[in-house]
Amino acid sequence: MRTPIVAGNWKMNKLLDEARGLAGDVAEASGTFEHTELILSPTYVALPALSEILSGTDVGLSAQNVHWTEQGSYTGEVAPSMLEEIGCTHAIIGHSERRQYFGETDVSVNRRARAALEHDLTPIICVGESLAERQNGETELKIKLQVRAALSEVDAGDARDVIFAYEPLWAIGTGESATPEQAQESLAAIRGLLADIYDDSVASSVRILYGGSVKPHNIDELIQGPDLDGALIGSASLESESFLSIARSVESWAE
Ligand code: 13P
Repeated sequence: MRTPIVAGNWKMNKLLDEARGLAGDVAEASGTFEHTELILSPTYVALPALSEILSGTDVGLSAQNVHWTEQGSYTGEVAPSMLEEIGCTHAIIGHSERRQYFGETDVSVNRRARAALEHDLTPIICVGESLAERQNGETELKIKLQVRAALSEVDAGDARDVIFAYEPLWAIGTGESATPEQAQESLAAIRGLLADIYDDSVASSVRILYGGSVKPHNIDELIQGPDLDGALIGSASLESESFLSIARSVESWAE
């Protein structure tokens, strides 16, 4: 069985003291989770503080992006080795907010993902359709294009380690989650594509999360989807109570 993941994407939230407090709560509770991987993804500036707070726990530490080169004239970017150096284990790549507002493309997502894999940073690659694409019946086409592009030149050995997050744009920050059926349909499409590109063994190893208005009240239903391996959580991850409540639901399901 794939170990489920509950990951908190804090986006551009939390000053350092608040970040320390939230991470401290999660670190304290983390010992009670035996079947669920927890991951926190604060802003870059909070990563070193969280690295200290989370050391000695099994909680993963994720950056919200990563560049594809080692060093150089790339103002505003952070290299994979720099993230590794401070104890990062994961990097979110291709979040729709980066694609929408910061010019992230399928090509740059692929570069970032390959660089992460070379540095033992597990990429959490986000894919998802807009409302217009869903209404036009293009959901599967869109997410398959994004997944295929993200995995260009990634071999089967590395592909096994990738985590995907299916996050429909219309569900992010809207309070309107995808239904369990909609989420499962897209997740199954992603897993089917992984089997086409690689094989069944890769497809059945890769963990695929759902993200988009995941809350304590809807996680129990969402997690029933056979292809769903956990959640990437935005606003509900900004309070330890709601984040841990979602994580406890996933833990009970996984037991
Ligand atoms: P919300 O949970 O706030 O909808 O955000 C989801 C998300 O974008 C996680 O990466």
